[in-house]
Amino acid sequence: MHLTLRFGEPLQTRTACLVLGAFTDHWQEPALRELDRLLDSRLQAARRSGEFTGKANELLLLQPGSPLPAQRILLVGLGPRRQAGLEQLRQAAGTVAGHLHGKRLSDLACTLPQLEVPRTSPAARIEAVTEGLLLAGYRFDRYRTDSERPKGVGPRKTWLLLDRNANRLEAAAALERAQIVARAVNLARDLVNEPGNIKSPAYLAEQARVAAAAAGFGCSVLGRDELQREGCGALLGVAQGSIREPCLIILDYRGAAEDEAPVALIGKGVVFDAGGISLKPAEKMDEMKMDMAGGAAVIATLLAAALLKLPVNLVGVVPAVENLPSGSAIRPGDILTSLSGQTIEVINTDAEGRLIMADALTYVRRYKPRLAVDVATLTGACTIALGQHASAVLGNDPALVQALRMAGERSGERLWELPLWAEYEQQIKSEVADVKNTGGRPAGTITAAAFLQRFAAGLKWAHLDIAGTAWIDQARPCHPKGASGVGVRLLTTFLREQVQKQS
Ligand code: BES
Ligand code: MN
Ligand code: ZN
Repeated sequence: MHLTLRFGEPLQTRTACLVLGAFTDHWQEPALRELDRLLDSRLQAARRSGEFTGKANELLLLQPGSPLPAQRILLVGLGPRRQAGLEQLRQAAGTVAGHLHGKRLSDLACTLPQLEVPRTSPAARIEAVTEGLLLAGYRFDRYRTDSERPKGVGPRKTWLLLDRNANRLEAAAALERAQIVARAVNLARDLVNEPGNIKSPAYLAEQARVAAAAAGFGCSVLGRDELQREGCGALLGVAQGSIREPCLIILDYRGAAEDEAPVALIGKGVVFDAGGISLKPAEKMDEMKMDMAGGAAVIATLLAAALLKLPVNLVGVVPAVENLPSGSAIRPGDILTSLSGQTIEVINTDAEGRLIMADALTYVRRYKPRLAVDVATLTGACTIALGQHASAVLGNDPALVQALRMAGERSGERLWELPLWAEYEQQIKSEVADVKNTGGRPAGTITAAAFLQRFAAGLKWAHLDIAGTAWIDQARPCHPKGASGVGVRLLTTFLREQVQKQS
């Protein structure tokens, strides 16, 4: 979708489709009042009949005819004004883009950033609307050769229509920032949607290299031999059931002074999780190609941070492996020696994520990060606890957890904290090794985090479990079905806010 800024009066704008927002309880907006007058009270009638009341994500398409230069008017609802925020704006924009997807309009003029949404700045509104439009327009259709594949993706040109008095420099910068973020989210989605036959660990590494080259940050990749030399026994243990070579992808972005400690981001990169010898049931196993969504979020966040030129140093680490059953796979009962030196009894080979993340967390310590955030589709239990509407956050530093939660609210990628009390460590005590890799069914998300915490000792650390949020099976305003790209907007927002706090 091609997005540009334009300045002028909505009702005097010549366009194939003019988009206007409306709240349920605030029909006094001058543009709406004027429109209602020009259309002989058509809006009031729609409201009275319940055809369009301004409820969140409600749509009404009008063909006004002569009184207006716009060929069509598309009204979109934002719900009650008091409750509205950036997320409603994002969703309204997403609903519009979703509605117009596949329809070939010559252009679209979207006035949503002009809407007076309480507690929002003009720049933040431009960002939210841009994100909504670009995220909703995403499709993963590169493998569709059939004739039903929708061709024209939407309007040929999309204008963000701003007030003549708007700060044009600030608006252009906001548009560019949001375009970068949306590009990064859609990269993460592409990586996650990519099928397992294509998506080997090497493929993931190659895509990371491409992103690094595009944005000018560093990327190096450790293969099996190097991982062996390092002593990444937990990661290698998971990998040994697959003929595909595992790797550790290391990304390095320097946006701040050389001597400033980096922020470390660690993302689970299981390119396909069949469960190993503890094989998963067939139902929905296809979705386990998404088990590298944490890794995708890390790669894409580095891309976004570098393109945004954030003044921060970042190191991203993605352990990439495939978890398959085979004659060479690890067995339940095996004991692995991790990079940290701690030994791990493997109770269930399907709890592989924490094994590879353990080594990745240990690996990242050498960068002496000022804080570390890991992102992983770690536990099915997280989906049971929070469903698709929040990722879980757990950590050893309340201020870090709080900062992440704030970024979650702001970005619309919400987090909910679960406790990491010492009592839970009982569940992962082993008789024969230092720790075991499962803690039974109770509090599955917490015991997985308690396992990781052992490898984050001494780090200011937080863990995000995105098992429930990385894959969407019911389309939403800004999310077609499939990969959500979750984590990218959250982490980018978090990094931007970290930077602001420091300066
Ligand atoms: N990748 C899965 C977790 C998952 C499940 C992500 C569903 C997304 C949707 C992870 O590797 C796993 O299999 N976890 C096990 C752990 C258990 C064996 C302790 C689980 O959640 O069942
Ligand atoms: Mn698993
Ligand atoms: Zn997994």
